[in-house]
Amino acid sequence: MHADPQASRHDAINLHGLAAMAAERLPAMVHDYFAGGANDEVTLRATREAWDAIPLRYRVLRDVASRDLETTLLGRRHAWPVLVAPMAFQRLAHPDGEVAMARACARAETGMILSTLATQPLEAVRAAGAGVRWFQLYVYRDRQRTEQLVRRAELAGYEAIVVTVDAPMLGRRERDLLNGFHVPSDLPVPNLDGAPRDLLATQAPTASALARFVAEHWDPSLSWADIAWLTSITALPILLKGIVRGDDAVLALEQGVAGVIVSNHGGRQLDTAVLTARALPEVAAAMAGRGTLLVDGGIRRGTDIVKALAMGADGVLLGRPALWGLAVGGEDGVVHALDLLREELSLAMALCGAARRADLTTDLIG
Ligand code: FNR
Ligand code: LAC
Repeated sequence: MHADPQASRHDAINLHGLAAMAAERLPAMVHDYFAGGANDEVTLRATREAWDAIPLRYRVLRDVASRDLETTLLGRRHAWPVLVAPMAFQRLAHPDGEVAMARACARAETGMILSTLATQPLEAVRAAGAGVRWFQLYVYRDRQRTEQLVRRAELAGYEAIVVTVDAPMLGRRERDLLNGFHVPSDLPVPNLDGAPRDLLATQAPTASALARFVAEHWDPSLSWADIAWLTSITALPILLKGIVRGDDAVLALEQGVAGVIVSNHGGRQLDTAVLTARALPEVAAAMAGRGTLLVDGGIRRGTDIVKALAMGADGVLLGRPALWGLAVGGEDGVVHALDLLREELSLAMALCGAARRADLTTDLIG
């Protein structure tokens, strides 16, 4: 089920190859949960294809002999503009789970966002690597439990809180319904702070244990007032993840958030939702340089990152490919995935005539 020492993960020459290797290794229930999306998976497919559909108007003769991939996010220098997206239950991919992900991110100079639904304690993940760590928060019906999570993240040294706002309820993931998706009871989910974990472990035909858990514990009444409350209880910068409209981005800034992440949750929430590559220019225009702007969904190639930055993003989140790396080779597999993408970004910049982030301007978009 897990990494096969006989197999060479270095066989994968791109993130698609890594996905294929992971598909061979993972049990079907886990693979479907990772790979799948909501309903007909229209958004899942189209979000990826939207990046492909954007032509690059590259420049020539610009001396690209050396490239500087650095960027600044929330006032911190990042060696390159990628963070690993928050993704639940990483020990389903590999026994070393989020700790291996954190170590890999530190080695590959990549920021990491840890999910509330991690399978290792947020403190242990923070301690595992010296890299930049942000904590992703799901807001529980029980606000005390929510606040407790924020306090733990602060104490452990997380540098920002990412509040996911596109999941007042869980999207309908039909693969999970068919598989009776659940999280085996011997796998801890230690950041729940007292929320009974049993719900997640209960297997039932044509039902997702995660959907039941979310319906019971997350708060569908979440509103802008709660964002104002969150900004009032912590000094950490807050980013909202799941914004796809300029007017919502402006509302977010008005509540005092430090940034937004343009995301449709990797096609796992509202099917037929707007594609992030299409939503990004509107959000960038509305934010007009106020606050940090990130984007995710279907980023698989260095050219995707070039396009996102040219359209105004400060950086991108990488989702599933990091899990594929973890599934195929644990910590080393994630490093391999991140190194592949970083090399691709460097080459894509060179071929666009861009030696540094500042050279990635909107006129590159065809
Ligand atoms: C996610 N995502 C997610 N987002 C979040 O805010 N909290 C979470 O716990 C999770 N969990 C999660 C699990 C799995 C298996 C996946 C694939 C995704 C969404 C994630 O952060 C991100 O928005 C998308 O995955 C980005 O799209 P790509 O790169 O996977 O196409
Ligand atoms: C998911 C949730 C947990 O996408 O965010 O599966």
